[in-house]
Amino acid sequence: MLFMQPSVPALPASLDFHGKTVLVTGANSGLGRAACLHYLQHNVSTLIITVRRLSEGEVVKAEILAQWEGKNEDDQPKILVFELDLSSHSSVTAFAAKLKAEVPCLHIALLNAGIFLLDWKVSPHTGNEMSFQVNYLSNAILSLLLLPLLRSTAEATGPPTPSYLSIVASQKYSDSRITGNPISESTTVFEACNDEKTFQPWSLYADSKLFVRLFVKELATHVDSSTVIVNCMCPGMVKTNLARSLSLPLRLVGRLVLSVRARSPEVGSRVLVYAAGGAGKHSHGQMLVVYENLPVISWIESKEGELMQAKLWRETLDALEKNSSGSIVSSTLHL
Ligand SMILES: NC(=O)c1ccc[n+]([C@@H]2O[C@H](COP(=O)([O-])OP(=O)(O)OC[C@H]3O[C@@H](n4cnc5c(N)ncnc54)[C@H](OP(=O)(O)O)[C@@H]3O)[C@@H](O)[C@H]2O)c1
Repeated sequence: MLFMQPSVPALPASLDFHGKTVLVTGANSGLGRAACLHYLQHNVSTLIITVRRLSEGEVVKAEILAQWEGKNEDDQPKILVFELDLSSHSSVTAFAAKLKAEVPCLHIALLNAGIFLLDWKVSPHTGNEMSFQVNYLSNAILSLLLLPLLRSTAEATGPPTPSYLSIVASQKYSDSRITGNPISESTTVFEACNDEKTFQPWSLYADSKLFVRLFVKELATHVDSSTVIVNCMCPGMVKTNLARSLSLPLRLVGRLVLSVRARSPEVGSRVLVYAAGGAGKHSHGQMLVVYENLPVISWIESKEGELMQAKLWRETLDALEKNSSGSIVSSTLHL
């Protein structure tokens, strides 16, 4: 039945994260938490989890470690809890700096944290519209800040093994208003996304995930896949708390649809872990659904899509330069 989603096979038993350090953002619920459990089952050595409130991180850490009970204590993974709030540039840069100072290597970065909003909301920290800030801009800036560590980790590994930088996206990107009504040449992406007068509730999420898709496609052209594989993925529709901020009637309708159609977080997060650790070089610049690359919608490859991608890239690098030390990052990119 077309309404139902295809099944997701179990992760390959050959996936082995022994000796690897893996970062999962937004690890306290839904897909992030479930992805952590998969990494654990596949022998991860160090798991770095981020949360907005450290107290919640400690609870998740205890829950994850409880899964280890009865197994060899010498092999028990190390779990580090870090604070990260994607609505704030200073939190993103502070997190990246702390990670660099405290963690010598990073093999996999799974940038999972995200939100779904239908209301107009602005980050009090940055003044940017919240979905744009959290789902796109902070994840893009964090990606760029993590690249040097991901690259140096790959280069220090013998034989050289690429690291992974993987962002959770959504096939819903194709519903973005921007594909039918591109941002004009004279308007910046920031101006368009921060204009309350023209915002469209049902496009906020799709717009932010379209930007993620374009960013991954562009970033992949600046990074050698033999050092860092850059990709994104869509877990399909998954029963999580993502719609928590919607009105009660919408949540009730959503719950009904989810109960029939959605994957469990355990199943949906298989797609995350496969993309961020198993997909290999052919996933560079791509979006994975189940365990295969999903072709981009034709708009992305049109002249308009290419212009939008270039515009977004320029503005993202400017934002990085403004908010942190962009020069360090530039040296790791082919610009
Ligand atoms: N569920 C689906 O059907 C579906 C489909 C496609 C893509 N996705 C994507 O999957 C990812 C995970 O979502 P989910 O479905 O697992 O929903 P979820 O259970 O609501 O998890 C979202 C995670 O993101 C964190 N987060 C939210 N705002 C944040 C911020 N400002 N700074 C840092 N962390 C923040 C949340 O932390 P708090 O608990 O502190 O809010 C939580 O850990 C998202 O990127 C989402 O867009 C989900």
